[in-house]
Amino acid sequence: MNPATNLIVTGFMGTGKTAVGREVAARLGREFVDTDHLIEQRVGRSIPDIFEHDGEAAFRAMEAEVCRELTRPRNLVIATGGWTLGNPDNRAALEAGGKVICLRADSRTLIERLGSAQGRPMLRDPHWPWRLRALLAQRMPTYLSFPFQVNTSRLTIGQAADRVLGLWDILNHQTDADSVPLALPVALDDTGYSVLIGHGALDWIGVLAAALGRPTGAAIISDSTVAPLYARRVAAALEHAAAAPTGATGLATPLLATMPAGETHKTLSTVTDLYAQLLAGKLDRGALVLALGGGVVGDVTGFVAATYMRGLPLIQVPTTLLAMVDSSVGGKTGVDLPFGKNLVGAFKQPELVVVDPSVLATLPAAEMRAGLAEIVKAGVIGDPALFERLEQGRLDDVAWLIHRAVAVKIEVVQSDPFEQGRRAVLNLGHTFGHALETLSDFRLRHGEAVAIGMVIAARLAARLGRCQPETATRIEAALYRLGLPTKVPDYPAEAIWAAMASDKKKQGNRLRFVLPTAIGQVAICDDVPRSAVLEVLETAE
Ligand SMILES: NC(=O)c1ccc[n+]([C@@H]2O[C@H](COP(=O)([O-])OP(=O)(O)OC[C@H]3O[C@@H](n4cnc5c(N)ncnc54)[C@H](O)[C@@H]3O)[C@@H](O)[C@H]2O)c1
Repeated sequence: MNPATNLIVTGFMGTGKTAVGREVAARLGREFVDTDHLIEQRVGRSIPDIFEHDGEAAFRAMEAEVCRELTRPRNLVIATGGWTLGNPDNRAALEAGGKVICLRADSRTLIERLGSAQGRPMLRDPHWPWRLRALLAQRMPTYLSFPFQVNTSRLTIGQAADRVLGLWDILNHQTDADSVPLALPVALDDTGYSVLIGHGALDWIGVLAAALGRPTGAAIISDSTVAPLYARRVAAALEHAAAAPTGATGLATPLLATMPAGETHKTLSTVTDLYAQLLAGKLDRGALVLALGGGVVGDVTGFVAATYMRGLPLIQVPTTLLAMVDSSVGGKTGVDLPFGKNLVGAFKQPELVVVDPSVLATLPAAEMRAGLAEIVKAGVIGDPALFERLEQGRLDDVAWLIHRAVAVKIEVVQSDPFEQGRRAVLNLGHTFGHALETLSDFRLRHGEAVAIGMVIAARLAARLGRCQPETATRIEAALYRLGLPTKVPDYPAEAIWAAMASDKKKQGNRLRFVLPTAIGQVAICDDVPRSAVLEVLETAE
């Protein structure tokens, strides 16, 4: 990184940009620039006065002008206004010469801090706390799109400055600091988290975890296959962050808790065993849990993090393609019971998801294909361009595929975080898929079962006139081209129906199906006649 690179501190009002920025500048011996202050100096009036007499548009124009002047690396610490970087041109201008660290705080903290502040135009409204939450929710996607975040809730200015400097220090020492991970925001009202995607992102975990909070300890939960491959590297990243002068000491000696690999271990007894390992490691409620593995580890660890001592913060570090594009995002966690899959669980949103596509190098080809099935699913649900790329067999840029598939998942999850309606679209192929998985005694991988499930759903849609026959043909051909199974296994149609009927996705007495209506569009159908389903299953070859 250029030694003169500017350090830019941004964030919502009340997160501490100016005070923290000034402290950071003093400690680095750098000049401090506050864009709001610069504008006030130039105009000779306060920001509230500019807003009141000239209007917001005039203020935003001045702000843009200031940003255009700050594009070069000049060894500065710059604190921006709360919404300066909401304008993409301002963001591009400042990022040309610097790296942004976004300060965040929960809305309760912000309301406490701002309650005693004077002079902000918004605070004159008696309903300002409600307005503040609404504004924060509206702006959250932008704040979450910065890969480097420091949560300043419950921190003094000095502690927040420590965290910013800790991040800055590691950014400076990171050899690939110019290829920072991409951050996709998952905004859930006035809070949320980011999905970071980037080659080498595993090595960033320490600094990212340290910036999130001051954990009293940390546990990496992984399985018997993934732990020997990557746990040491993740532990080293945590230890590295703890060793920095401003480091988070709780990350110093992370506990490694393991479970046997595979769906058959996604059980309550594994959960109990993991609780025992965390207790033996003396992890308390202030500890951080990292789920390092595929969807099974993610689901089990998420459930453990949701329930151990009534809940610990969680970072998802998915290592299968399926987990990267699907299970690590959205907060659904849980385990299987002897009566069926995922019958016990909890919604547990992570604090962060860290996706490092380079770990896919060790993933067996069959698991890779299973993940591709979920990417096809994402394309069918909401991204025709993604589907077309898969249809052409273009797998060269896997980070792009992950990015696009995660974006589809995020869009759906944001619209329905607790699966009360639209989120069911993500179950495309799953009603049939889960039944086939169960009937095969889990010899069929989840992704493989979903691939066959999508073929059946597409044929059913075509049969019911819900999509063009060509749509069904394209879905089947794309899956086949990617090496996924498309042939319905030889179970009696009635047995598949019975297995589906015991699945929890049933609504009352009716089975619910997600059917493609076009590439990039699906519908949730509760009125599919049993006879039509059985016909499709019976005529399937
Ligand atoms: N929570 C959700 O929203 C959600 C969504 C979709 C699927 N799921 C769940 O996800 C599970 C399936 O996940 P999965 O397909 O990732 O299976 P998995 O977790 O069993 O992983 C597959 C195998 O790959 C190994 N592995 C993982 N990463 C590896 C790597 N980088 N290199 C080498 N080996 C590696 C694992 O040890 C395992 O043996 C199912 O239980 C399913 O119900 C959950």
